[in-house]
Formats: sequence, C-alpha cells, structure tokens
Amino acid sequence: MSTKKKYPAAITIFGAKGDLTRRKLIPAIFNLFLGNHLPETFSIFCVDFISLDEKEFKNDLLAGVNEFSRNGKADDAVWQAFASRLHYISGDFLKAETYLSLKEKLEQFDTANKQRGNRMFYYAVAPRFIETISDGLYKHGLCNQDRLDRIVIEKPFGVDLLSAQKLNRFLRKRFAEKQIYRIDHYLGKETVQNIMAFRFANYVFEPLWNNQYIDHVQISVAEEVSVGKRGGYYDASGALRDMIQNHLLQLLCVTAMECPPRYDAETIRDAKASLLKNIRHYTTAQVFKNIIRGQYKAGTLNNTPQPAYRKEEHVASSSTTETFVAAKLFIDNKRWQGVPFFLRTGKCLPKQSSVIVIQFKDSPYKIFKDDIMPNRLIISIQPELEISLLFESKVPGLQMKLKPVEMDFTYKDSYNEAIPEAYEALLLDVLIGDATLFMRADQVEAAWKVVMPIINTWRKYPAKQLHLYKAGSWGPTAAKELLKPNVKDWVLLQNPEAIK
Ligand code: BG6
Repeated sequence: MSTKKKYPAAITIFGAKGDLTRRKLIPAIFNLFLGNHLPETFSIFCVDFISLDEKEFKNDLLAGVNEFSRNGKADDAVWQAFASRLHYISGDFLKAETYLSLKEKLEQFDTANKQRGNRMFYYAVAPRFIETISDGLYKHGLCNQDRLDRIVIEKPFGVDLLSAQKLNRFLRKRFAEKQIYRIDHYLGKETVQNIMAFRFANYVFEPLWNNQYIDHVQISVAEEVSVGKRGGYYDASGALRDMIQNHLLQLLCVTAMECPPRYDAETIRDAKASLLKNIRHYTTAQVFKNIIRGQYKAGTLNNTPQPAYRKEEHVASSSTTETFVAAKLFIDNKRWQGVPFFLRTGKCLPKQSSVIVIQFKDSPYKIFKDDIMPNRLIISIQPELEISLLFESKVPGLQMKLKPVEMDFTYKDSYNEAIPEAYEALLLDVLIGDATLFMRADQVEAAWKVVMPIINTWRKYPAKQLHLYKAGSWGPTAAKELLKPNVKDWVLLQNPEAIK
C-alpha cells in the first residue's frame, strides 16, 4: 500500500543545528525518501540562529546520515537529489523576521506547486522555545489550516501537571488539537507497535490477559549509557520525568489497555487515556513503600571507569536527582485489580535491555516433584526484537523430569523486511495526518497525574531513601526487594528461567 501523500509537503525543522536533527530527523526523512514514501514534491526548511554556509550545513547533515542511518552510508547521487530539497534559514526564534522569511519561503513553495501544501513544523528545540515558536507561527499565519498544517513537539511536555496543562491551554488557543503531534518516540518503535497486533489480532491470549491468570507484569527499560553531556537537562529532570512519565507509562498502556472498538487515532487514544486514569495515585507513605529511586555512584561500565552522577558535567555536586526508578503500580479496574505492574528504568546499568514480562500464576496442579516455573511471556523491545514464551517440558529420558524451555518469535527469522526507525514511522504519520501514535492532551495530563504524588514527595524529602548504586550494577537492591513476594528478581531476555 502506498503511504505517499498527494499534497506537496513543506517540512520545517526548528533547531536545525541540534543533535536531534542530525542524529534522528534527517536520517529518518532521508530513509523515507529512499523508500519512496515522501510526496513527489517536498522541501525541508531548516531553521536555527547560527549564520552558516548552506553547503557546510548540508555536508554536516550528510555526515550525520552516514553515521546514524540504519541504511549506512548515503549514495552520492541519491544524497544530492535529497540535499537539493534542503534549505537553511538563519533566524532567531524570538524575532518576527524569522517567521516572515520562513513564510515567504513557504508561500514560494506553494506558488511553485500551484497548490497549498501540507506543512509540518518540527520543534527540535529546548522546551523554553515551544511557546515562542508557537506564537510566531500563529501570529504570522504560518500554521492556520487545520487540515494541512501540523506542529510536532518533543518531550518533555511540561515539567509537571500544572505546566503541562498550561502549555496545552496555550497551544489550544493557537492550534486545533488535531494539529498538535506530541511525540513519544517509544510509540513509533516497531516492537511497541506490534504489541497491539499481538494482543488484539490473536485471541489465544485474551482469556488469560487479566488478574485471574496473570501474577504480575514487569516493564523494564535498562540503559547502559550514562547521562554523559546531558547533565544540564537531566539534573532538572531525572529518570521519573525523562522515562517513566512518558515512555514506560506508554508501554504500560499498550500492555494493559482494553481493545479499542476500531483501529483509529481517537478510539485508541481513548483506550490509553482511560487506562492511565485508572492507575492508582499514591499517598506519601505509599510513594516511599512502592517507588524506589537510585542514583549511580562511580563504577565500571564496559571495562571503563565511570564517574559518579554527581561528577558529571553540569550536574550539581550535591544533586539528589534520580538516575534509576523502580515502581510498583496498580491499575484499579476490573481486569487488573490486584496485579502489580513493576516498572524499572535506569542509566549506567550493565546492558541495554527493554523488556515486558508477563508472568502468569503458578499452576494449581501440584503433581510433579520438580519445582515448576510459572509461565512467562517476554516481549523484548530492544536491542533484541523478539517475543518468547517460557513453559515447562519433560526432559527426554527415562524419568519424569521437567525443565523450562522457550518458544520464540524473532523478527530476523520471520521477516525479510527491514525494521524502520521509530522516527521514520512517526514522521510519515505526521505527513499523512495520522495521530494514532502521538499523545493527546488528556493522555499527557493523565500521565502527569500518576507521577505527581511521586514528584511532590521527592520535592518535600529530597534525600530520603535515595539509594546510591554502583555504575555497571543492576541498581539498588531495594529494587529487587520491591518485587517480593511475586518474584525474586527482574527478568531479562537472557535469563528467563534463572529467576524463580
Ligand atoms: C529519551 C530520553 O527520551 O529516550 C533519554 O531522554 C533516553 O534519556 C532515551 O536515553 C532512550 O531512547 P531509546 O530509543 O534509545 O531507548
């Protein structure tokens, strides 16, 4: 099926000189171009405040594509064809001239095509510019056609519930909700999109997908990377805002939401919003009991010494910002009442691994002598792309001896198709006007409501129960304790049968 859009597309990127543009956006748009998914006619207007030579700018983007694209080095002729659509506009986001000069370029683009094109405005900028840019676009009439014009906003969307609500109100005065695409790039990941297919196109699991058969769920996004050069942003944010409020809660939504009545943006987002609204909000005492926060101290990562978080660039030497969170959450609805959802994320852990583990209840039949492992369904999001089901089987031989085995689905064994990057899927969706994988205002606010009691508690007691963990370890032992009595440890794809 062609995903091409008939309208010419004018893509504007604010923050053209930033890391996101070079690492993710341009490689993704280039791959869409390679895959012939873009409209025949498109232009990319790259805006940033630095004045620079356009040729040099394009060469730098090419170096970014060569380094970060999943397709490797760009073919020279194809890159030249693509680069002829790239235009650099030097302009201060705070000044009217910037919007006026962009407007002129957009109008020239429409005139040349004899038709008003689609307009995408991507905010690859620090959050403090969101309102300024929105105002500029609004006042100068650049983004005023509901049907054709869209803005794309990166996280963080606000720093707490109040600021997110304020920002939503601000945007809604200038744009229609359907023009606002709030990105959570986890939703664009192939393996995350597949969870809906897995759950709702296969009836076999549906009767089991509830508190009668499921003991608990683990959602773990472990990162090997440190905070690195992002200390300035991260120290004011922390893992709760950086990962849990958005990515992990979205993974929770796709795992636990009810089946929407149709596959369309609004009903799917209704189902997710309704799930978020059912997550239990904690009291201060419950926060201390159910949420573990940690911060890495010096250690070794990949055989290399890793300094403590507090020694990272732009991080306060007495910082209490968390680089690790483990949470035990409950969903108060009929399907999930009583089932703990354990969420975990952290930096400087021994390896990158994002998995969702559905652990089923123990078999009620106790006829075998061996210890029986509960069944586990493991959905691996990255770096491995697979789904496996763990079950007990008889070891061949003359005795009735049992051992857990695995049934596996891996993308590489089942498909020849390449796996697109999350940003490819998401950018194409913006161009074709499909908001299914984007966060609606009410979803963002409901997610903030879940984490606000935690933020408020930590604000009030900044140093209480902040566990330091060694960089290169699996985080504080308290995170393991949190799992009891359901299970002894966090399950990884590599060790599913090791953990009882
Ligand atoms: C970003 C966070 O949103 O997601 C980063 O700001 C984090 O701190 C990143 O490292 C993880 O994304 P991915 O796709 O590499 O798992």
